[in-house]
Amino acid sequence: MKAIITTAYGKPEVFKMDSVEKPIAKPNEILVKIKAASVTKADTMMRTGKPYIGRLFMGLTKPKNEIWGTGFAGIIESIGENVNQFKVGDKVFGENIKSFGCYAEYVALPEDGIIAKLPENMSFKEAAGMCDGGITSLNFLCNLGNIQHGQKVLINGASGSLGSAAIQIAKHYGAEVTGVCSAKNRSMVLELGADYVIDYNQNDFTENENKYDLIYDTVGVRSFGECKKALTKNGLYISPVLGMPLLGDVISSSLFGTKKAKFSATGALPEMEIKRLMAILLEIIDAGNLKGIVDKSYPLEQVSEAHEYVDKGHKRGNIVLVA
Ligand SMILES: NC(=O)c1ccc[n+]([C@@H]2O[C@H](COP(=O)([O-])OP(=O)(O)OC[C@H]3O[C@@H](n4cnc5c(N)ncnc54)[C@H](OP(=O)(O)O)[C@@H]3O)[C@@H](O)[C@H]2O)c1
Repeated sequence: MKAIITTAYGKPEVFKMDSVEKPIAKPNEILVKIKAASVTKADTMMRTGKPYIGRLFMGLTKPKNEIWGTGFAGIIESIGENVNQFKVGDKVFGENIKSFGCYAEYVALPEDGIIAKLPENMSFKEAAGMCDGGITSLNFLCNLGNIQHGQKVLINGASGSLGSAAIQIAKHYGAEVTGVCSAKNRSMVLELGADYVIDYNQNDFTENENKYDLIYDTVGVRSFGECKKALTKNGLYISPVLGMPLLGDVISSSLFGTKKAKFSATGALPEMEIKRLMAILLEIIDAGNLKGIVDKSYPLEQVSEAHEYVDKGHKRGNIVLVA
């Protein structure tokens, strides 16, 4: 089968298309013919091997896994003899955070992994990016943020993968949503359900009069310190982008003050918890309240171009590779 091989950390050119042996499903595995695979911001960080701490898990001098890619959507081509939740021909999507392998034509996965049947109302391309933005934003808004009906929620980076899912999830839970994006993404953010939109080039949300119960900085460009004045008395700042300043804010705000900062590494949650979040995500999708946003799709062999685009930091929703 065709697969993208990665043998070093570095620029987008580190990827090479190659022909490798097609995987065979073990007794507890399904073999998926991949129709779409996501290219995420996390993928680009793994590619560079930075921050260096990530190499403790990814491989110290070169990546441990030769074939990358975690988010996928496709059709089951064969199943192992002990598989009972899925059958050949099922359309599925999910996230293979343990062993990757989705930048390829086929991937073999344990049936009890983070996998679900493709919702009726969702395309392969939409579904491939759904776990990254959808599950992460569900984790942040519900687990960390304990989002409540009627709360005022501000989403910074509302047009990205996490942000576009977050608007829809926050509306599903009955929040009043303000999305912060640039002018070109205003109409998309409104269409996704935001009640108000702030153009970050025209207006600094930390300086206006409004106060929010929850500020979700999906792109990690505004600090807790800056956002404090835009939080209500017991307001919460959450961001998925960890650096030393946020780490310090998480620790100090847990000890002092009524306004708090929180962080979580969604991929490091126990698999049972990610599966629980996936089940909630499916309910929101089934209710018609969550759709995937696909900015661009690239053929598998153009993975380097896809990474170059994600590196620029201005994608709308998700980027996918199609086999
Ligand atoms: N901790 C976790 O569990 C976890 C899980 C998944 C992802 N992440 C991290 O979450 C972050 C977000 O990922 P993502 O894929 O959603 O998005 P992304 O690729 O980082 O961001 C793309 C979006 O950000 C907007 N943007 C850029 N600069 C902005 C600014 N100054 N203010 C507001 N919006 C701005 C862009 O819109 P314009 O073009 O309009 O500027 C674009 O739509 C990444 O750093 C990723 O590594 C963390």
